[in-house]
Amino acid sequence: MTETTVRKQYDQLAAVYDLFWRRYIANTLSFLKSWAEISPLDIVLDVGCGTGEFERLLLAEYSSLQIVGVDISEKMLAIAKQKCSIYPQVSFELASASALPFNSDSFDVIVSASSFHYFDDPLAALTEIKRVLKPDGKVVILDWCKDYLGCKIYDVILRIFDPAYQQCYTQDEFHHLLEEANFAVDRARRKIRFGVMWELMVATAKIKA
Ligand SMILES: C[S@@+](CC[C@H](N)C(=O)[O-])C[C@H]1O[C@@H](n2cnc3c(N)ncnc32)[C@H](O)[C@@H]1O
Repeated sequence: MTETTVRKQYDQLAAVYDLFWRRYIANTLSFLKSWAEISPLDIVLDVGCGTGEFERLLLAEYSSLQIVGVDISEKMLAIAKQKCSIYPQVSFELASASALPFNSDSFDVIVSASSFHYFDDPLAALTEIKRVLKPDGKVVILDWCKDYLGCKIYDVILRIFDPAYQQCYTQDEFHHLLEEANFAVDRARRKIRFGVMWELMVATAKIKA
């Protein structure tokens, strides 16, 4: 039900997404790129890839990097496909975070930016991410952090007015979800401020030994 609402919302937003969120996207994704420390030989999956801006950023540095992006919005994906059309090793698929259409142990790095608060079953998404991640791979998730006032306010407002929105988490709640999915947090940071209201958190996690 929520996924249908999210899909509709992002299908409607797709044409203006890059322009409307230009600063937010540029700031969050350049942060994510340096945090994630992706190497040119990694096979990367981006869950909730949107319009493919993260892919564009990575490919500007590593033009032969293998990347797959998944998203539930066909219109967001259409823009991503267009942006990356000159890279034959980059592909995009219409898929939900909780049903990833890939074999187990396929990716070295799985990233997700500003999408986790839309997942209606975050544990199912993390379990899928764990399944398709190689045993020695890492997942890097960047999302809003409810430990801070700006996101607390957004959380209340969006829960009332935005039917696509699920919830954002405190860092403790987020790490607990990762633990529940059998990930161990390797490196984490919160209170990453972008603009006046946005305070995000990031975690790099690995599958527990
Ligand atoms: C705020 S946008 C972020 C896009 C991109 N990661 C970025 O940082 O620009 C959130 C994206 O997550 C996608 N999304 C939401 N729920 C999803 C789900 N369950 N599975 C896959 N994608 C999802 C939306 O369609 C949307 O494109």
